[in-house]
Amino acid sequence: MGNNNSLTLDERIRLLTGVGAWHTFDANGKLPEIMMTDGPHGLRKVSNEAVENNNGSHVATCFPTLSAMAASWNPEAVSKMAKGIANEAVSEHVAVVLGPGINMKRSPLCGRNFEYFSEDPYLAGTLGTAYVKAVQEAGIGTCLKHFACNSQETRRFTSNSLVDERALREIYLKAFEMVIKNAQPTSIMPSYNLVNGLHSTENKKLLTDILRDEWGFLGVTISDWGAATDLADDVLAGLNLEMPDSAGLHAKDVYKALEEGRITEEDIIRSTDKMVAFVTERAASLKKAEEAAGLPDIKDAAYETRKKAHREKLLKDNHELACSLAAECAVLLKNDGILPINKDEEKVVIIGDMADKMRYQGGGSSHINASDVPSLISELEKKGYKVTFIQGYSSESNTRNPLMEKEALEKLDEVLTLTPGAPVIYACGLTDYDEGEGYDRTHINVCEGQISLYNKLKMLTKNIVAVTFSGSPMDISFLADARAILHMYLCGQGVGRAAADLLSGDKNPSGKLAETFPAKLNETPAYSYYGLENTDDVYYAESLFTGYRFYNTFGIKVLYPFGYGLSYTSFEYKDLQVKDPHHISFKLKNTGKTAGAEICQVYTENPSSGTYREKKKLTGFKKVFLNAGEEKDVEIELSEDAYTIYDRQAGKFITVSGNYKILVSASVEDDRLSAEVEIKGERPSKEESLTYPFTKEQFEKIYDRPIISIDKRTGGFTRFDSLSTLKHHTFLAKVMLMIGRRVIRKSLKGKRKDDPEVLMMAKGLEENTLDALTYMGGIPTKFADRIVKSANKKQRKKA
Ligand code: BGC
Repeated sequence: MGNNNSLTLDERIRLLTGVGAWHTFDANGKLPEIMMTDGPHGLRKVSNEAVENNNGSHVATCFPTLSAMAASWNPEAVSKMAKGIANEAVSEHVAVVLGPGINMKRSPLCGRNFEYFSEDPYLAGTLGTAYVKAVQEAGIGTCLKHFACNSQETRRFTSNSLVDERALREIYLKAFEMVIKNAQPTSIMPSYNLVNGLHSTENKKLLTDILRDEWGFLGVTISDWGAATDLADDVLAGLNLEMPDSAGLHAKDVYKALEEGRITEEDIIRSTDKMVAFVTERAASLKKAEEAAGLPDIKDAAYETRKKAHREKLLKDNHELACSLAAECAVLLKNDGILPINKDEEKVVIIGDMADKMRYQGGGSSHINASDVPSLISELEKKGYKVTFIQGYSSESNTRNPLMEKEALEKLDEVLTLTPGAPVIYACGLTDYDEGEGYDRTHINVCEGQISLYNKLKMLTKNIVAVTFSGSPMDISFLADARAILHMYLCGQGVGRAAADLLSGDKNPSGKLAETFPAKLNETPAYSYYGLENTDDVYYAESLFTGYRFYNTFGIKVLYPFGYGLSYTSFEYKDLQVKDPHHISFKLKNTGKTAGAEICQVYTENPSSGTYREKKKLTGFKKVFLNAGEEKDVEIELSEDAYTIYDRQAGKFITVSGNYKILVSASVEDDRLSAEVEIKGERPSKEESLTYPFTKEQFEKIYDRPIISIDKRTGGFTRFDSLSTLKHHTFLAKVMLMIGRRVIRKSLKGKRKDDPEVLMMAKGLEENTLDALTYMGGIPTKFADRIVKSANKKQRKKA
C-alpha cells in the first residue's frame, strides 16, 4: 500500500476530496482509508451507529474547552489533556484529531471563543505546541485550525478579513508559526473566510509561500468543512484535501481546468503525493498505537470485546484527568476570605440551575457526548456538606421567570431563618443560547433573569459566593458585591468536582485569565468593525492592538485584566537577574499557609522606536508550584520575538534597537519586578503611527496596498456567495431561503428557534456559500446556477 506510481490520474483527482464527512479515499484499495474526527477538547466521533442511537456522537470524555485550558497557563496540563484525547482516538480507530484551534480572540463576541486559547499569540502558540506534540507522540495526527484570521462567526463562510501585514505576522499568524516550527503538526485546516480578498483555501500566499516556503510545513492542508472553492485553484494555491465529500462537484472543476490548461497533471501529482504520504503514515502510526494499547486488528473477531474493556477503563481514567485539569483552569476573581467554605458549616445553599445541569461545553462541531457529568451539588455532598439546592432560574431560557424567582427567595428565606449566615453559592453565567459555533453574541451581558435574581438574593444575605460559567468574557459587574467569584469557564465534564474541590479548599485555585474581561463592549478594540451583518468586508482597523495590547497601551479601564487570578495563598517575587536579554531568573516565595501555584508572567515594555507598537507584550511565563513557606529560583526563557516587529518593507521580523524594560508580573496590570536591557538592533524602515479611535482612513495608510473589497463587486456574483448576500439581488434566493427554513424546522421539530443547533443550521443556510449548499444541503446545482445568474442580471440592469 502507498505506492504513488500505481495511482491513476482519476484516482488522484478523487483523492483530493474526502469520502463522506470524515474519511479519505482509499484509491480502490491501493491506500489505507483513514478517519478524522473533531476536536479540540474531546473526541466527537460521528458514525451511523451514533446517529441511530440519537446520541450525535460516540461517548467520550469532555475535557476543559481550550479557553479554559489556557487559563491554566500550563503546557504540561495541556499535554496531559491532549494525550487523553489521543488515547480515546486510538480506542476509536480515529487517525487524526481536528484540533487544536489557535485563532486569536479579536472580540469577546465571537461565538467560538471557547474553542480558542487566548488573545495573545505567544500564550496560544506555546499551549498549541504542547497540544500537538502530545497528540502526535501518542501516534495520532493533529489538524491545526482555522488558518487564518477566522475571528468571527457572523458571515463566517464569506467574510473577508482585511488585515495589515504587521497585525497578520505579529498577531494572527504568530501562534500558527510557533506551532508549525516547534511541533510540525501533521495537517492544518485553511478556514472558511477570505484573507485580504482571497478565500484561505485558494490563498497561495498563506498555503504555500508562508506555510511551506517560510515556515517549512511538511504536512497536508485540509479545507474546513465546505470551505473549498474551485478545487483546481485551491490545489494550485496549496490545498491537499477538501472536506467533506463534494459528491463529484469539485472534481469537475479539476477536469475542466485540466482541459483548459489551468492546471497540469504534475500539479495534481505533486499535491496528491503529499496525501499518499499522509494517509500511509497516519494509518501505520495508528496501527502501532493500537498494538501498544493491546488492541487487535480492527478486522479481528476479538476487536469489539477488547475495545469495550479498554474503553471502559480509559473513560474512567480520563474522567479523573478531566476533573483534575478543570481544577487547574478555574480563575478566582474575588475573595474576601469567605472561601474556602468551612466543612463544618451547618448548611450550604446552592442557587442556580447551572449547578445542577452544569454548563461545561459549547455547541457546534466540538460538542462532546460526555461520559459522565457529576453536578456541583452531588460533588459538594460527597465532601460532607449539607446542601440545599434551589433552582432559581432555568438555563433553558434567557428570559426572566418571576415565579421561579419568587419561589427561590421564599425558600432561601426559610433556610436562612433556620441557619442564618449560611454561605450561598450562586451559579450563573452564559447559557447555550448565548454562545456557540456559527453565531456571535451581540452583547456581553448575562441574561436579565439571572441578574434580577441576584439583585434580590443580595437583599436577603451578604454571604454570596458566585460561581460563574462562560466560554468567553461577560459583564459580571453586577456581581461586584459578591464576597467571592470563582470563574469556571466551560471546563468540561469534571466541572462539578473541580468547583467542589476549589470551594472546599481541597484544592487551591491557580488559573489566571488568558484574555481580558472588558468593562464595556464599546471599549473593546474591534468594536466598530466586528460582526457586522450587512457586509463581508471586515476591517481589522485596530491592527496589532488586540486584547490587553489595546487596553494597556491606550489606558482603557477593564473589569479584569489579562493574566489576573487569585489564590488562597500569597506570593512574593524578588531578586530579578537578567542573565542575557532572553534569559532571566528571580526568586518566588509562597508567603501564605497553603500550598499553591503562581503563574509568573514576563512582559517586555517597548521603547519608542519610530513606529507604533504595543506598550508591552507577553514574552515569557511559568506556572510554579510551591508548598506553604517554600521559596524557589525561577528561570524563564523569553520568546525569540521579545524585541522584534515585522517590518513590512524588509519583509521579515527585525530586532528593534532601544532600552527595553523586562517586567516580571502577576498580571498585565500588576508588575512585581523590573530591569532594563539595552538591545542593539535596527530601526524600522518606515515611521508609522496608529491612534485610537481606529478609523478606516488610518487603516488604509498602514494597509498600504489596494483594498480588495468583496462587497463592492458588481455583476460578479458566483456560487461562492451566500444566500444572505444574494437575497438582496434576486427573488430566487429569497425563495430558496424560505424552502430551506421550512426543511430545517421539519428536521429539528420540537426544538426552539434559539436552540444552538437550530441557530447554527439556520445561519448555515443563510451564510454558507451556494456551492457548499449544493453538496451539503442538497440544493440542486441547476437551481444554484439560476440564482447566481439572476442576481448578476439584476445587478447589471441596476448598473
Ligand atoms: C468547523 C471545524 C470542524 C469541522 C468538522 C467545521 O464547521 O469549522 O472546526 O473541524 O466543521 O466538524
